[in-house]
Amino acid sequence: MKNIVWHEHKITGKDKENQLKQTPCVLWFTGLSGSGKSTIAVELEKRLYEKGKFTVLLDGDNIRHGLCSDLGFSVEDRQENLRRVREAAKLFYDNAVITMVSFISPFAEDRQLARKLVGKDFIEIFINCNIKTCEKRDPKGLYKKARNGEIKGFTGIDQAYEEPESPEIKINSDQTTPEAAVEIIISYLVERKYI
Ligand code: ADX
Repeated sequence: MKNIVWHEHKITGKDKENQLKQTPCVLWFTGLSGSGKSTIAVELEKRLYEKGKFTVLLDGDNIRHGLCSDLGFSVEDRQENLRRVREAAKLFYDNAVITMVSFISPFAEDRQLARKLVGKDFIEIFINCNIKTCEKRDPKGLYKKARNGEIKGFTGIDQAYEEPESPEIKINSDQTTPEAAVEIIISYLVERKYI
């Protein structure tokens, strides 16, 4: 960066890990709209809170009300959405926070960039759900609008969703309750000594 010099802080991420007594990671949820990402992330956050863990949950629908309210759903806007989100996630991660990110994040390249930015503690969680099930659930009535042509470029209908090839965790949310999904993620975190 030209004319911009990095300023060192006195308190490091490690200091904050010691203060919070936790090991940070980025839990990156990806999946179709209506697949259950946010439901599972919200339940997981509650469980982690009860275990005394400090978390931040960045959720697509909420972040698009503020930080990303200027963005739509074109390929370029989604890329910019996810660029901001991965940078935000990295900031929290660097400050010892167990960071949860819940966005459709439909393109492999954007998820790969997030993985690269975060490094070894990036945990991709693919919430795999048949689109027919998502469409049947249609909690926000958006699939109906997409089918009517009221929404263009809807993920899974007339825009792509590229499934993760090797996510750290894959949950088939059409065959698993949110509670069971949370258990799978908690077990993963315990096994790898994050919690
Ligand atoms: S992402 O593709 O950029 O990662 P993000 O997770 O932020 O998407 O936002 C997805 C949410 O926006 C969906 O859950 C849905 O409620 C809403 N939405 C509105 N329009 C669209 C669209 N064209 N495609 C997908 N989701 C949409």
